Amino acid sequence: MKIDVLLGLQWGDEGKGKIVDFLTPKYDVIARFQGGPNAGHTLEIKNIQHILHNIPSGIFHKEKLNIIGNGVVIDPLIFKEEIDSIKKLGIDLSENLIISKKAHLILPTHRILDAASEAAKGKIKIGSTLKGIGPTYMDKTGRNGIRVGDIIRQDFKKKYTFLVKKHQEILKLYDFFYQLSDYEKGWFEGVETIKKFNIVDSEYLINNYLEEGRAILAEGAQGTLLDIDFGSYPYVTSSNTVSAGACTGLGVAPNKIGEIIGIFKAYCTRVGGGPFPTELINPTGEELRKRGAEFGATTGRPRRCGWLDMVSLKYSIMLNGVTQLIMTKVDVLNLFKIINICTGYKIEGKTIDYFPYDVEIEIEPIYTEFKGWNQDLSNATSFDKLPVELLKYISFIEKEAGVPIKIISIGAEREQTVFN
Ligand code: GDP
Ligand code: IMO
Ligand code: MG
Repeated sequence: MKIDVLLGLQWGDEGKGKIVDFLTPKYDVIARFQGGPNAGHTLEIKNIQHILHNIPSGIFHKEKLNIIGNGVVIDPLIFKEEIDSIKKLGIDLSENLIISKKAHLILPTHRILDAASEAAKGKIKIGSTLKGIGPTYMDKTGRNGIRVGDIIRQDFKKKYTFLVKKHQEILKLYDFFYQLSDYEKGWFEGVETIKKFNIVDSEYLINNYLEEGRAILAEGAQGTLLDIDFGSYPYVTSSNTVSAGACTGLGVAPNKIGEIIGIFKAYCTRVGGGPFPTELINPTGEELRKRGAEFGATTGRPRRCGWLDMVSLKYSIMLNGVTQLIMTKVDVLNLFKIINICTGYKIEGKTIDYFPYDVEIEIEPIYTEFKGWNQDLSNATSFDKLPVELLKYISFIEKEAGVPIKIISIGAEREQTVFN
C-alpha cells in the first residue's frame, strides 16, 4: 500500500481541513507531516465550525487513527486547549491520536523569540503567526531542540531550563518586554496532557501500517508557496510544505508515495507579508474577501485576495508531482461577471512564465479573461450539472496544469463537495 499526500498549492488556507475531513472515510489513518499551530484547518459539520491547529483533520471520524508526525512542531499549551475543546463535544481522542516521539516542542520562549524577531524587523516583518514556528525549527536544525519523547525522561526539566536560559540570553539582544511566567504554567499543564497520549516512533508504525495494507493520507499544512526552500523567501514558513516533506516528516520513502492531491482555491489569498502578483487592492479584492469570508483561521487577520495565478500554480504542481487537483471555494466566484486567471508575469517589460527568484521585484500579471457563471451552485451534484462557463474555467485550468481536477468544493460544509 502507498501513502497519499494532500497539500496546499498556494499560500495556505486552500481548504485542506474541509477536504481532508471529506476524504477521511476512504482512509484508515490521517497523518500531519509538518508545520504546527501556525496552521488553522477549518471543518464545518452540521453548521458547527471547528478549527484545528496541531491535530489532524480526520478526528471527527471516530474509527480512524490520527498521527502527529515527527516533522510537526507542537505547542503543549495550544495542544491542551484543542484537546479540551474537542472533549467538550464528547469526543475522546486518547485512543485514536498518536504522537511521534520525534516531533519537536515549541517552548514559551520560542513564541517570545518569534515576537521579538518580528518586532525588530519592523516594516519588513514576515507577518508570522507568532506561534514560535521559526525559532523552534531553528533549534531543531541547530540540534538544540526538545522533542516529545523527552518529556518522559528524568532530565526533561533540566533540558528545558538549559534551553530557556539560552533563549533568555538571545532575548537580551532585543529591546523586547516579555513575561515568561504567563506562559509557563499552562505550558507544563499541556505537557501533562501530551503524556496521556500514545507517544511512539511513528515512522515504524506508519511503515507497518503500509505493509498491512492500511490506507494512509498525509495532511499538509500551509502551502507550497510558503515552503522554506521554494516559497517567496524570506516570506515563508520554516518547514518543507512540498510533498517531499511528507517523506521526511513521517519517515516514509519516496517510493511509498501514491497519489499527490494538490488543493487550490478558485482564486488566491495570502496572509502575512511577501509578494502576491495577482493581489487586488481594490473593490474586487474586497468583494473576494467578503464573499469568501477571508479572515485567518489562526490569527483572525484579513487575508489579502486576488485572482488565480496559473504561473505559481504550475510551479507548485511541478514541485509536488501533483497527480490530481481539487479546486475549492468555487462558490465565492458565483456572482462575479468577469473572472481573471493570470497566465504570465511582466517584469521590466519582459514576459515570463516562471516563478522568479527575486521577490522584491515589481510584477505585472497578464490575464486571460473569463465570463462568470452568475448563478448559485447549490444544486450541482456532479460535474455535468455545472454551468457551461464554470466548465470552461475548469477545463482551461486542467489544460494549463496538465492535471485533472477531480473534486470541486462549493461551500464550507462537508456535503458541499462535487466529484468528477
Ligand atoms: P486550510 O488551512 O487549508 O484548512 O483552510 P482554512 O480553514 O484556513 O480556510 C478555508 C476557509 O474556507 C474556512 O473557513 C473553510 O470553512 C472555508 N471553506 C472551505 N471550502 C470552502 C468552499 O468551497 N466554499 C466556501 N465558501 N468556503 C469554504
Ligand atoms: P494553514 O495550514 C496561511 C504564513 C504566515 C506568515 C508566514 C510565516 O492554515 O494553511 P509562521 O507563523 O509559519 O512563521 O508564518 O506563513 N502562514 C500561513 N498562512 N495559512 C497557514 O496555515 C499559515 N501558516 C503560516 O501568515 O506569512
Ligand atoms: Mg488555514
